[in-house]
Amino acid sequence: MRLGVNIDHVATLRNARGGIHPDPIKAAVISEKAGADLIVAHLREDRRHINEDDIANIIKNINIPLQLEVAPTKFMFNFAIRNNIKKVCIVPEKRQELTTEGGLNIKYNFNFLKKMLPTLYKNKIEVSLFLDPDIENIDVCKELGVNAIEFHTGEIANTFGEEEKFLINKLENVIKYAAARGISIRAGHGLNFDKTKKIINIKFLEELNIGHFIIGESIFYGLSEVVKKMKKIIG
Ligand code: PXP
Repeated sequence: MRLGVNIDHVATLRNARGGIHPDPIKAAVISEKAGADLIVAHLREDRRHINEDDIANIIKNINIPLQLEVAPTKFMFNFAIRNNIKKVCIVPEKRQELTTEGGLNIKYNFNFLKKMLPTLYKNKIEVSLFLDPDIENIDVCKELGVNAIEFHTGEIANTFGEEEKFLINKLENVIKYAAARGISIRAGHGLNFDKTKKIINIKFLEELNIGHFIIGESIFYGLSEVVKKMKKIIG
């Protein structure tokens, strides 16, 4: 199981003052040293946290892969190609949202993805789609030739008790369905230590990408300690 550490919110804090501190590059380097398997960063269209220079500098300073999260636009795909990005996760984006509120509407984006994905693959980019855990999404992925999915765990993060159990069970079934079709499975969004423990034993889950909680918790305990603890939980 790989741990991806999303360092967007170090940049959120930096941008609050418009200066250079705290530095997301330093966060990437510390996360790598503490055991992160990949660094994750979302280049948003409004550049509210990570910017183009950050991406270039992260790549220069880490020895683990960078996974770039981008909206499905020609500009972002070209940016990934120009910067020799090896891993891209395609996510939905709305200007007014506080965070990525749900998975990509794969049917709405079908024609664009069908046309553009071959260019990403030709440039040897490993592509995953950020999707809600629904069986119909898997069938569309197969039609598109997509072989990696990150499932949005935001709903699980926000529910408790019976509803939470129901959603975890649903995630497990969808993962089983996707894995049986040769799709590589990742998950993320809203995960903290407790929620991670609850989904960690789902078979076929290969990677968790976690940001806000790790960065928030590191204010109290230090980034290195928090990454180490999360890494220990996911084994
Ligand atoms: N995975 C994807 C595709 C995301 O868009 C995000 C949020 O940017 C995350 C994981 C991490 O979510 P969180 O910051 O809530 O841990």
